[in-house]
Amino acid sequence: MFWNGKTTEVSINPDAKLFLMHMSDAQQPSIQLRQPRRILVTGGAGFIGSNFVHHWCRTYPRDRVVVLDALTYAGNRQNLSDLEGVANLRFVQGDICDRELVDRLLREEALDTIAHFAAESHVDRSILGPGAFIQTNVVGTFTLLESFRQYWVAEGSPDSYRFLHVSTDEVFGSLAAEDPAFTETTPYAPNSPYSASKAGSDHLVRAYFHTYGMPTLITNCSNNYGPYHYPEKLIPLMIINILLGKPLPVYGDGQNIRDWLFVEDHCSALDVVIHRGQPGETYNVGGNNEVKNIDLVYRLCQLMDELAPDLPVQPAENLITFVKDRPGHDRRYAIDSTRLKNELGWVPKTSLDEGLRKTIEWYLAHPSWWRSLLSQEYQAYYEKVYA
Ligand SMILES: NC(=O)c1ccc[n+]([C@@H]2O[C@H](COP(=O)([O-])OP(=O)(O)OC[C@H]3O[C@@H](n4cnc5c(N)ncnc54)[C@H](O)[C@@H]3O)[C@@H](O)[C@H]2O)c1
Repeated sequence: MFWNGKTTEVSINPDAKLFLMHMSDAQQPSIQLRQPRRILVTGGAGFIGSNFVHHWCRTYPRDRVVVLDALTYAGNRQNLSDLEGVANLRFVQGDICDRELVDRLLREEALDTIAHFAAESHVDRSILGPGAFIQTNVVGTFTLLESFRQYWVAEGSPDSYRFLHVSTDEVFGSLAAEDPAFTETTPYAPNSPYSASKAGSDHLVRAYFHTYGMPTLITNCSNNYGPYHYPEKLIPLMIINILLGKPLPVYGDGQNIRDWLFVEDHCSALDVVIHRGQPGETYNVGGNNEVKNIDLVYRLCQLMDELAPDLPVQPAENLITFVKDRPGHDRRYAIDSTRLKNELGWVPKTSLDEGLRKTIEWYLAHPSWWRSLLSQEYQAYYEKVYA
């Protein structure tokens, strides 16, 4: 949907219906005059960031989108290759800790919104080497906040600017089987260097709202899955190992519980939060899909048997292998997204089975994408974690 710039006539992009669905009647007129945003997406070549860039370019084609990504092992230009040629999209390879670069981009592109995804994001890697997590997740977030604050003040502190910090449910620690799900008021209790560094960055973002009045938003989301997911994470790891006929390593007794959210539902939640979230607030985002890891792996095996022809080992569940548990492995995460539902009208649309099917189909259709990621570095990392 966009304003054509001359009259109040409105064109509706079918994908932008999402926007209207969440509006009360009173809110509709202002939305119909939505001015294009100019958004910086940090980490936009990673898993969720690249899905978000696809979502945003599709839904708001008149918006300017600038991606800032350092292209670490987890970042991949291929994740955005089908958007090459989109005039409103610019890709910049660079580090969020590079203050000069961030200052320049904000001014040069007259940006009004930051969607901050860039992070070191894998718990296992944070156990092997926590330093990079502190640098990117804490120092990098601080660098962005400071740069945005000074720019925002210089621009006259506009109400419409937004700084969205994309965070995780892991900051809340671990739940016992009978505990209620995490809400926005659950005390922080991070257990891994990854979650501790994300918790540190969440606190900084919160402080910038309370101290400087900067229009920040925080989302804490459960485990995502979907296209463009780097092979080290549970779901793509299992899909790829099944395709290669390799063992499926399941940590400990496999009874750890995660709440799974299809990545496109996460992107629609972030869209709603950017447009309608209350500055200074945090919003929990979850899929209402609590599943034990071992049950998830069995379900993936069944779906792979059904969807993938000529698997090297069938049934795929013959590949399941229990391995030594991850140190400090959180037992259960569960997210209560009632605030997002009641205040902003968002609910996830994709059931776990539907999302898993879509994800498997995507990996089956893109073998060159995932094969290119099985580098020596990846193999060495894999050996270290699962040997
Ligand atoms: N994956 C999940 O299940 C999940 C769930 C909840 C929240 N999150 C959060 O969402 C965000 C994105 O997660 P993801 O799974 O897409 O991560 P990812 O590891 O797939 O991608 C991270 C991206 O950030 C980039 N990056 C890393 N360090 C950088 C730096 N210093 N400067 C610029 N770019 C840098 C990488 O190159 C990569 O493209 C993270 O902040 C993560 O904490 C993830």
